[in-house]
Amino acid sequence: MESHDPEKASMLEIRHLAKSFAGLKAVDDVSFSLETGEILGLIGPNGSGKTTLINVVTGLLHADSGSVLVDGTELARKRPHVVARAGIARTFQTIRLFGELTVLENVEVGAVSQGMSRSRAVTIARDLLEEMGIAEWGSYLARELPFGHQRKLEIARALAMNPKFLLLDEPAAGLNEDESDLLLELLRDIPSRKRVGLLVVEHDMRLMMSLCARLHVLNYGKTIAEGTPAEVRANRDVVTAYLGSTA
Ligand SMILES: Nc1ncnc2c1ncn2[C@@H]1O[C@H](COP(=O)(O)OP(=O)(O)OP(=O)(O)O)[C@@H](O)[C@H]1O
Ligand SMILES: [Mg+2]
Repeated sequence: MESHDPEKASMLEIRHLAKSFAGLKAVDDVSFSLETGEILGLIGPNGSGKTTLINVVTGLLHADSGSVLVDGTELARKRPHVVARAGIARTFQTIRLFGELTVLENVEVGAVSQGMSRSRAVTIARDLLEEMGIAEWGSYLARELPFGHQRKLEIARALAMNPKFLLLDEPAAGLNEDESDLLLELLRDIPSRKRVGLLVVEHDMRLMMSLCARLHVLNYGKTIAEGTPAEVRANRDVVTAYLGSTA
């Protein structure tokens, strides 16, 4: 990953992105943009295309059409390591850690994967574990970590790649309310401290309304709304498709 200058703003632009699976339009002409320092929420019912969108943006799946641009550089249909080098990191809906490596080593891998020296990677990894509040777990195996801490570890590993943009797929899934609140406070600080742009996918509306400046709403792969949490909560289409009477 090219070194990320925190003073310089960057822009991630998704333009007319589309991806089908055997005729099912999982992502259907979706466009939005995200700046470094910002938090954008991506919400929508189960199966509305949120994970597919992240997979297409990060190169895990090939877009059928459309663009993914970081500061004007085309990344659609590029391989995952190319996308990572261009400054886009992610976490997974189902946690993917190196279970047999230590917690510290998991974070080091993130840094080393972007060309950092081993000694620099260790320093960065220690700092990130501290920031995520799991420093005392550094020498445990990742699989020994309590579940809630595994979610934080995955975020620490992604941040070790020094990304411009971090895409989080349901970071609070499986956490209880207290753990979610703690995670919320950790996430809230990341964009301003590291000048990273966060895209957060999450079903916990309480968390999302408090965390995100803007929300982008999908339904059956299509954008049905984008706006502030207040605007989205008041949007009839969103209430019908997703929020229902619980919002
Ligand atoms: N690899 C695949 N092959 C075929 N269909 C897929 C594949 N991945 C996803 N889909 C389908 O694409 C649609 C979008 O799925 P996706 O996982 O992106 O939704 P999501 O918004 O992330 O849902 P959730 O909130 O449940 O995580 C669904 O209909 C899903 O069944
Ligand atoms: Mg998903």
